[in-house]
Amino acid sequence: MKRVGMLTSGGDCQALNAAMRGVAKVLYNSTEDVEIYGFQDGYQGLIYGKFRLMTYDDFSGILTKGGTILGSSRTPYKLIREPGADGVDKVAAMKQTYYKLQLDCLVILGGNGTHKTANLLRQEGLNIVTLPKTIDNDLWGTDMTFGFQSAVNIATDALDCIHTTAASHGRVFIVEVMGHKVGWLTLNAGIAGGADIILVPEIPYDIDKIVEKINERHNRGSRFTILAVAEGAISKEDAKLSKKEYKKKLENYKYPSVSYEIAEQIQEKSGMEVRVTVPGHTQRGGSPCAYDRVFASRLGSEAGRMILAGEYGFMVGYKHREIVKVPLEEVAGKLKMLDPNASIVREAKMMGISFGD
Ligand code: F6P
Repeated sequence: MKRVGMLTSGGDCQALNAAMRGVAKVLYNSTEDVEIYGFQDGYQGLIYGKFRLMTYDDFSGILTKGGTILGSSRTPYKLIREPGADGVDKVAAMKQTYYKLQLDCLVILGGNGTHKTANLLRQEGLNIVTLPKTIDNDLWGTDMTFGFQSAVNIATDALDCIHTTAASHGRVFIVEVMGHKVGWLTLNAGIAGGADIILVPEIPYDIDKIVEKINERHNRGSRFTILAVAEGAISKEDAKLSKKEYKKKLENYKYPSVSYEIAEQIQEKSGMEVRVTVPGHTQRGGSPCAYDRVFASRLGSEAGRMILAGEYGFMVGYKHREIVKVPLEEVAGKLKMLDPNASIVREAKMMGISFGD
């Protein structure tokens, strides 16, 4: 008998259900007797003992469904370590639920914060297998995360739509793309959506270089310019600030986000009309794209195999087009940033895309 706990934690994304379905299909199609316990709303379910026994049918018909059938929540690592207002020792509570249900392992689907806690639970002696989820693609130890390709498609659609209206009105348009502190999503959507300027956190921008590019396009007869701006984009001046100074700046920030500051500066310096569009959480919503359905199914399938084989303490990742096992201690606490010297950046620059640097 294998008793498996399952939870989805952190910001949701497309293909969480596809990944869980992959795990469940392998387990239920095996010769083992299997019980899968689904925890409600991520680590909260494990802490407060909110779970349900899931049947084969629970995982049927969910391949194309966005979101997560288990629900999710953000339970920051810092809060996991400290007893909250309710005085609950969360690590002890999670261990208690695990042992009470006599689980053989936990399958945890999540991004960066989730992996820190998953690794902590591994250190505490629990058997853990994780799956790399996030539209940001910023998890260490894997070339790609599921959700990313679906989000690229949605952000690209936004850029496509903006193109036609920008051309009609001769405006500068900023499309703000998610991605937290990294630029993977913005870079890929920016190239796919034909952005003229792409701003990512890893390449701090100079506002004058951006205006230069807009003027250059204008002088060549282009009536409009499209910018794909990462929500975490940062100017060269701000990049020089200490963490403390930058945090202070954000505390007194008068703009809803960096895109609006950039828009105001462009308008002042170029005299052109600028608009900002923020697709926001639509980038995490809806049905997974075909790529993510296949990718998440493959990752889930391997997780199922690992559980049956008793191979614990790993994230199932993707390296050089192969599904691989990555030790959790290598993944936890590290961000996978975009390399400003990566060939994709060089190739984009050769096509005339400006990074404002
Ligand atoms: O990590 C995924 C992500 O969508 C980021 O791109 C974004 O910065 C963040 O989550 C938004 O978080 P929330 O859903 O908590 O507003």
